[in-house]
Formats: sequence, C-alpha cells, structure tokens
Amino acid sequence: MDTKEPRQLFPEKLIEALDQETIQAFQRLNASSRDLMSCYRCAIMEIETKFRVLNERFSLHHDRNPIDAIQNRLKSPESILDKMVRKNLPFTLEAIAENIFDIAGVRVICSFIDDIYMLADCLLQQDDIRLIRRKDYIENPKPNGYRSLHLIVEVPIFLQDEKRLMKVEVQLRTIAMEFWANLEHQLRYKKDLPPEVIAKTEAQLYECAKLSSVLDTHMQDIKDTIESHS
Ligand code: GTP
Ligand code: MG
Repeated sequence: MDTKEPRQLFPEKLIEALDQETIQAFQRLNASSRDLMSCYRCAIMEIETKFRVLNERFSLHHDRNPIDAIQNRLKSPESILDKMVRKNLPFTLEAIAENIFDIAGVRVICSFIDDIYMLADCLLQQDDIRLIRRKDYIENPKPNGYRSLHLIVEVPIFLQDEKRLMKVEVQLRTIAMEFWANLEHQLRYKKDLPPEVIAKTEAQLYECAKLSSVLDTHMQDIKDTIESHS
C-alpha cells in the first residue's frame, strides 16, 4: 500500500472533485506501478551481475575482457503508455508485464563478434535463465543495415518473501555496431528533410553499416590469427 497521503499525490482542487473510491484506486495503481518498476530495476541488476561475472572469469583465463561496456535502461512511463496504445493493450499492470518485453533493457558492448555469441551462450546456459525470444540481426541485418543480437530472457529476482520472474531485453553488439546504431538513431530523428535528402542519407547509412560489418570481420580475423600463434 502506498503510504503517501492523497494530498501529496493530487492537487487540492482535484481532491475536492474526485470521490474517495477514485482516489484510493489511483493510490493502489500508483503503488503497484512503483513496485513493478522496482522489480524491473532488480532484474537489470541481476542480468548485469551475470555479465560482470562472465567478464571477470573470462579475463582470468584469457587475459582480456570480452565486454567493453554494459549499459542499462528502464523504459519511461511515456514510452510504456505509447506501446500500450500501439499494441491496443488494456490499461492494467498485468497487461504490461505479459506483453511488453523491453521495459528493462541491458546492452552489452563487446570487442569482437565471437564474444557476443560466447556471452549469449553462457547466459542462456545458466539454469535460472529462460529464453523467451532471440533475434539475430547480425546473421540477418535489418534492411537499413542495423546489426545486434537481441535476447528477451526471463530472470528470477528474489524479494523479501517471494520470487518473481521478470523479462529483460538484452542487446549484444560490438563497438562498431554500437557506433553505427547510436549515430543512426541520432540522425533518424531529423525528419524535416526533403525526401531526396532522406533517401540519400539512408543509402549512406546503409553503406556505413556494411563498412562497420567489414571492420568487425577484419578485427575478428586479426584476433584469430594472433591467437592461433600464441
Ligand atoms: P520495438 O517495439 O521497437 O521494441 O520493436 P521490436 O519488439 O520488434 O524489437 P527489435 O528487437 O526489433 O528492436 C528493439 C530495439 O533494438 C530498439 O528499441 C532499439 O534499441 C534497437 N533497434 C532496432 N532496430 C534499430 C535500428 O534500425 N536502429 C537503431 N539505432 N536501433 C535499433
Ligand atoms: Mg523496444
């Protein structure tokens, strides 16, 4: 139950206009949604720790880190609402938990393509992880050139008196994929351009995606060559 008084949640005028039942219903919804978001934050912590452990153990045996960086993201209430409207979902917390898989996001940026598949396999082998969905945009890039390995996994979080299964979207990509995706994302939102300029920049971005893919393959080849001689 939310401990906040209605006065803290509602402006004075609104309290006068709303009946007690509506205020209580809103308070319950507010408390449950804060609880749900807290659980997603816990799930992010669990997944991040798993990757940190894998990175630590790998560096012990191989003298290098497969992970360059780990980032996380919790979807904003506005984006959740937007997705619920787009997917025509009922406005309930159950509908959110069952249908929106990317509220909690963890991005793992790797040095080499092989590291991506090694880390994904290690994560999925763990007996508390359940794979919900896998999309390999490295094997099959998106038409615009986007590459990354996407996993939706379910991970348990252990609370004071219960265990909950939470879904997390894991994106694994190389530094080159991250570089391309970040710039493409920035440029995509500059929409007030003439159609011919949009077409040209899309083609240029696609070319850059292919170059980044070549770069990844070459770096992997160099690493394989060096490792085969050491
Ligand atoms: P969403 O409703 O957007 O979550 O789509 P989806 O459920 O089909 O997921 P998908 O696995 O295709 O992509 C989800 C996430 O991957 C996005 O939120 C982005 O973070 C990333 N992503 C996918 N496509 C692109 C792209 O073309 N460019 C960039 N920069 N990021 C992308
Ligand atoms: Mg998404």
